Amino acid sequence: MTEARMETEKMQTRKMSPLPTGDARPSVEVHLDEWVGPNVCDDRGELRAGKILEWMDVVGVLAATRHCRRPVVTVSVDGMELKDPIQVGERLTMTGSVAFTSERSIGIGVSVTASGRGATRRSVDGFMTFVALDEHGEATAVPQLLPETPAQQARYREGVLRREFRTQLAAGQLPDAGTQMPGATAAERSLWVREILKVLPRFPMPWDRPESQRPRSRHHSYVHKIEPVRQSELNFHGTLYGGRLMRWVETTASLSASAYLPEVGVRLASLHGLTFIRPVPAHVFVHIRSAVVHCSTDEVTVLVNVQAENPVEAQHTETLRAFLTFTPSQTQGDRVRIPPLECTGTDERALFNEAAHRLALQRTLSER
Ligand SMILES: CC(C)(COP(=O)(O)OP(=O)(O)OC[C@H]1O[C@@H](n2cnc3c(N)ncnc32)[C@H](O)[C@@H]1OP(=O)(O)O)[C@@H](O)C(=O)NCCC(=O)NCCS
Repeated sequence: MTEARMETEKMQTRKMSPLPTGDARPSVEVHLDEWVGPNVCDDRGELRAGKILEWMDVVGVLAATRHCRRPVVTVSVDGMELKDPIQVGERLTMTGSVAFTSERSIGIGVSVTASGRGATRRSVDGFMTFVALDEHGEATAVPQLLPETPAQQARYREGVLRREFRTQLAAGQLPDAGTQMPGATAAERSLWVREILKVLPRFPMPWDRPESQRPRSRHHSYVHKIEPVRQSELNFHGTLYGGRLMRWVETTASLSASAYLPEVGVRLASLHGLTFIRPVPAHVFVHIRSAVVHCSTDEVTVLVNVQAENPVEAQHTETLRAFLTFTPSQTQGDRVRIPPLECTGTDERALFNEAAHRLALQRTLSER
C-alpha cells in the first residue's frame, strides 16, 4: 500500500472515532455585544485588534469555565486572519461556544460579526484552547462535550484532528511545514497548517545578541514595553489573563510596525498561531519586546517575545513568542512603498526565512 493511501485511510479512521456519550455535557455558548466606542479605537477610528483578542479571551474563558466549573487558562490561539476592520460606532457581536474537549483541554470556537456600515459581516473566526487547572496549577481532566447537532459533531471531529496533528507534529510523525500532506483534504490541510503555525521556532532574539547594540535599520522598529502585573489583571487562579497579555502583545507589535513605517498607519492582518508557554504570576513585571523581522511589498511581520521578571527573586521566565503581520492602512488609494529589511548575519536571515515560511502557510489558509 502506498504511503499516501495509508495516510488517507488513517484519516478516515480518525473521522470514525466515536463521539462522547454518557455524562458528557452539551455545548455552552457565550455572547458578548459591544458598541465600538472611540476609547477602544486607534486614530483612524478602527477597533484595535488587541481589544478584539482580549474580548475573545473573555468569551472563551467564560464558556470554558462554565463548561468545566473550574479555573481555566488560555493555552493557545490558532493562526487567524482579521478580515475587515471594525469602525468606531459599529456594533460588534461575539459568540464563543465549546466545540471540542480532549481529556484535559477545552476548545472554543469564537466568531465575531460587525454591523453598522450596511450589512452584517463576519469579521473574525477564531479557535482557542483552554486548560482547566487543579489546586496545584496542573492541567486536570475536564467533563467531556456532547456534540448534538451535525454541525457540532463536525466541529468536534475537527478538534479531534487538531489534537492528533499537534501530537504527531510534536513526535515528528507528520511532514513539516511546506511539504504537501499526502491524501489530506483541503479542510484537513488547513487544520494541520494551523497547528504548525502554533509551534514556536527556537531562535535567539535579535535584541539578545551583544552585537545587536550596533545601529541597524531593524532597530528603528525595536520596542520594549514593561507592564507591572496588577491584582485586577489576575484570573481566578491568581495568574495573568491571556486576553490582557494578547492586548499588550498587539500594542507593542503595532508600535514596531508603525516605527518601521512612520508615514502611514498600520493594521493587524494576521496572527500566526499563539502558544502560552507558562503562566504569568502576580507581582512580576512583564517585558514585551518586539521588532520587525520580515517585510514584503505589502506587509511587515513583527516578532514579539514576552518575559516575566520577578525582581525580588532575580528570575526571568519566557512566557510567549508570537509573529504578527501588519499591512499599511491605505490612504486615498495610494500604494505605500515598504522599504526592504536589512538582514545582517545568519540569525537575522533565519528569522526572515521563518517569517516568510509562516506567511506562505498563512496564505494557504485564506485560499480555502
Ligand atoms: C496550560 C499548562 C498548565 C499546560 O502545561 P502541561 O501540563 O505541560 O501541558 P500538556 O502538554 O500536558 O497539555 C495539557 C493539555 O492541554 C493540551 N495542550 C497543550 N498545549 C496545547 C496547544 N498548544 N494547543 C492545543 N492544546 C494544547 C494538551 O493536549 C493537553 O490535553 P490532553 O491531555 O487532553 O491532550 C501550561 O502550558 C501553562 O501553564 N501555560 C500557560 C497558560 C497561561 O497562563 N495562559 C495565560 C497566559 S498570560
